[in-house]
Amino acid sequence: MSASMVRVEGLDVRYGSAHVLRDVSFELAAGRTVGVVGESGSGKSTLAKVLVGTAPIASGSVEVDGVDVASADRAALRTYRRRIQMIPQDPFSSLSPRRTIGQTLAEAVDPVRARVAEHEERIGGWLERVGLQADMLHRYPHEFSGGQRQRIAIARGLIIDPHFVIADEITSALDVSVQAQILELLAEIKASLGLTMMFISHNLAVVQRVSDEVIVLFQGEVVESGPVERIYADPQHWYTRRLLEADPGSAGFSLAG
Ligand SMILES: Nc1ncnc2c1ncn2[C@@H]1O[C@H](COP(=O)(O)OP(=O)(O)O)[C@@H](O)[C@H]1O
Ligand SMILES: [Mg+2]
Repeated sequence: MSASMVRVEGLDVRYGSAHVLRDVSFELAAGRTVGVVGESGSGKSTLAKVLVGTAPIASGSVEVDGVDVASADRAALRTYRRRIQMIPQDPFSSLSPRRTIGQTLAEAVDPVRARVAEHEERIGGWLERVGLQADMLHRYPHEFSGGQRQRIAIARGLIIDPHFVIADEITSALDVSVQAQILELLAEIKASLGLTMMFISHNLAVVQRVSDEVIVLFQGEVVESGPVERIYADPQHWYTRRLLEADPGSAGFSLAG
């Protein structure tokens, strides 16, 4: 089976006179991860917002998980948004400082009742899965490091078994060694769960670690796309080459050591 999770065709997004995405087309099969790379302002987050239904589609078609995002009504989008999860860049501002980690995860599972005791096993299991300990569910966000908070944000995104996950610059605020650990974790989880994911970063080396395919965005346009190995070994567009050169870590990027 090679069902498409995402099918985008001829997508245009405009904010007033700003043409933020131009004629963007791509397809993502279930179980695959697409990396989206491009410098700041290239339209990466806007593309993510289109997929979760929070950016205006000027033209083109966008289908995610069988839903036509452009024409879906509010009710349809509400159910849809529980199947699509966005992992935020800055978990500190997205994790409530007054809630324990357990409460935050319980709320993800059941927004209405949010009872930690009812979901303790599942919450503890996910904390362990992201490299923390089950009994940490009683702690508050400030008791964790930045990397640990990003792990918690990943657990929160994945605990409801989403069909599709979007990670937008989730390692950008972390230092390089912690970044490598988070990428390792994501690669591991992705392999064991068969996640379908869009992984966004301005850093091509970071994208390489977890992606099967890569889309290169330049000023709102896809200038190059293809399998990650090909993009690396044989970049076709000058902008892709520039991204590779701009990142001295990319050639020898390794998680070892
Ligand atoms: N809500 C908005 N209103 C107006 N312009 C926006 C809005 N969101 C994004 N933009 C503009 O769209 C362009 C792409 O932004 P964004 O998608 O955030 O890029 P990236 O995530 O690659 O840094 C930028 O020029 C940005 O200023
Ligand atoms: Mg962005």
